[in-house]
Amino acid sequence: MKNIHADKVLILDFGSQYTQLIARRVRELGTYSEIYPWDIAIEKIIAFNAKGIILSGGPESVTLQNTPEISNEILKLGIPVLGICYGMQAIAKQLGGEVEESNQREFGYAQVNIESGSELLAGLSDQTVEKNNAVLDVWMSHGDRVARLPNGFNVIASTDSAPIAAIENKQQKIYGLQFHPEVTHTKKGKEILGRFIHDICGCGSDWTSVNIVHESIENVKLQVRGDQVILGLSGGVDSSVVAALLHKAIGEQLTCIFVDTGLLRLHEGDQVMETFAQHMGVKVIRVNAEQRCLKELKDEADPEKKRKIIGNLFIKIFEEESSKLSNAKWLAQGTIYPDVIESAGASTGKAHLIKSHHNVGGLPEDMKLKLVEPLRELFKDEVRKMGEELGLPYEMIHRHPFPGPGLGVRILGEVKKEYADLLRLADDIYISELRAYGLYDDVSQAFAVFLPVKSVGVMGDGRRYDYVIALRAVETIDFMTARWAHLPYEFLDHVSRRIINEIDGISRVTYDISGKPPATIEWE
Ligand code: XMP
Repeated sequence: MKNIHADKVLILDFGSQYTQLIARRVRELGTYSEIYPWDIAIEKIIAFNAKGIILSGGPESVTLQNTPEISNEILKLGIPVLGICYGMQAIAKQLGGEVEESNQREFGYAQVNIESGSELLAGLSDQTVEKNNAVLDVWMSHGDRVARLPNGFNVIASTDSAPIAAIENKQQKIYGLQFHPEVTHTKKGKEILGRFIHDICGCGSDWTSVNIVHESIENVKLQVRGDQVILGLSGGVDSSVVAALLHKAIGEQLTCIFVDTGLLRLHEGDQVMETFAQHMGVKVIRVNAEQRCLKELKDEADPEKKRKIIGNLFIKIFEEESSKLSNAKWLAQGTIYPDVIESAGASTGKAHLIKSHHNVGGLPEDMKLKLVEPLRELFKDEVRKMGEELGLPYEMIHRHPFPGPGLGVRILGEVKKEYADLLRLADDIYISELRAYGLYDDVSQAFAVFLPVKSVGVMGDGRRYDYVIALRAVETIDFMTARWAHLPYEFLDHVSRRIINEIDGISRVTYDISGKPPATIEWE
């Protein structure tokens, strides 16, 4: 079996919003990568045993005092280093070059002229202009620029406003790019990173879904041996992939607990049972907690209290059910790498909050079960690929995110069964039409919201006085900011008609045109 961790790239995070993207790109190129904070102890860096180190960009300016620095020790390890944006400036400063605040800040597209003879960039070109100079279309985002090279370095790319736009020291294998190769706007970005990790660092390409699945299965087998494992299955991507993986690894030793709070989407519970229990033969205990949940939510209109009630009930039921499985020794969880990075950042107080994380799956610590977390090293896109590899249905793996409290935060104010039933029908029409029009994958998240206010409408000869449904669809990369999706009017018209005509109890449909910020994606 391939050792998928044999070649590793370490990414030191200086606080860029693109740091995770760098790590993902490296992995897409077939090499395992991990992110550490910029000031991690040198012993940990040595122990990690990377074949290459990449320094991310960052929001600060090396021209100021007390800003993050790259230590000389790292630059002397003999491991190739690539600094991106702030990372390049930190290298330049550390090695005796000069960085200055530029009076021409550059944000967005830029064209850089490439010097021939560069190990990192030569031969790459998006277009060739006069004198056969190669030009790359890149994405810049910087205020400072390197003004004087450190000794031993050459300029390998330049623009008018940043004459030193990329640098290299072939002998010491230290490289710097003022632009961002990790974003897709830099057309040859992936090739540049490939040059660094494959050609310069000598890393292989064994980090592939097939190999990851194989190794994960072997690891799970070694970890749990003959013991019984329990998993809280929600039907979301992460827990579904864990279920499929564990089932493949340990079969009958896995028991999943699926809690239906009554706040799931139309037929969702049945679909989960069909996929896992019927098709795959996974042991799934389905708990119908609708009545219990509605009872506890009665008269409660406060969004945060509703979240707590649903979350606590989930945990309580999970505990009740798992305590019946007295010989279980392990609790499986769908923790993924961004969760690990976030909680590491949070514990050192250095987190740049990526997305507030409010998973209902936060299970009690006193369960006395050992944790098995087979997705801990993986990014979401890798989890999806693993799901595909394990044969899960495409629609399940590429689903929009669904909040832990489910429809509980999409019914404004008090939750009632009548409201949940109406919302389920409306949401189902909306989502299935998005799929039918081929729009589902174009938006990051889409859903219907139930507004418990009544509005007048006319149906035939009669007036009706019924509830309102709001439709929401957003486009976003990180869910921290989002723009409302500009869905075609014709599509919205069609969905609105279907909802009002087919659902007895809804008289009006609106479309939410609020961005985040200032609005949030969910309505509560
Ligand atoms: P907001 O509404 O904060 O949502 O803009 C950002 C993303 O987080 C999801 N979300 C939740 N997920 N439990 C969850 O597991 C929650 O309580 C919760 N609230 C919001 C939301 O669906 C969106 O993807």
